[in-house]
Amino acid sequence: MEILLLTGSPRKDGNSSALAAAFTNGAKSVGHQVVTVDTAQLNIGACRACGYCRDHDGICLQHDDMEQIYGHWQSAEMIVFATPLYYFNFSAQIKTVIDRFYARGGSLKKRTSINRAALLVCCGAATPVSAALVSTYNAILKYLEWQNCGIVIADNVHDIGEIENHPALLSAEQLGKSL
Ligand SMILES: Cc1cc2nc3c(=O)[nH]c(=O)nc-3n(C[C@H](O)[C@H](O)[C@H](O)COP(=O)(O)O)c2cc1C
Repeated sequence: MEILLLTGSPRKDGNSSALAAAFTNGAKSVGHQVVTVDTAQLNIGACRACGYCRDHDGICLQHDDMEQIYGHWQSAEMIVFATPLYYFNFSAQIKTVIDRFYARGGSLKKRTSINRAALLVCCGAATPVSAALVSTYNAILKYLEWQNCGIVIADNVHDIGEIENHPALLSAEQLGKSL
């Protein structure tokens, strides 16, 4: 299947990128196609709540790099969010993308081939407070009727590279392989 992997750290080659790479290795090893979109490198504006999409069949007024992501809407079967934990939740880069799902409106679930998801998270704290992020993720999945395939959290990783040898890398790879 085609898997749309959204990475969301402004740090190049950071810890969440390493987690995303481990997942990708696992998924590719069993034949899946992984399309990675680095949201932090794209120009994606925040939803303006202008309502234009409601009057224009789900088309957003903003013609920016979000169109790359909308482009995978009808071909990907799975979406994976790879985010650093930022103030207990998704990074702003990923959250901005999620808000832009709004343009596809209430019929979103009928207009996408995506039906499952996974969450990969990196956080600096040794005892991370990730409940708000996990709760947000679960609420999104419930609303969109997407099945949860797994959540991997790499705790106690702050500086770039600290994730090396972290057991979460193996968990992310195994998650990819398990699909
Ligand atoms: C703006 C900001 C907010 C953060 N908030 C949290 C937090 O709430 N909890 C936590 O454990 N770590 C927090 N961190 C640490 C990052 O989650 C951690 O450094 C992570 O490994 C970064 O991933 P990256 O290398 O992919 O950017 C924060 C870091 C930044 C820059």
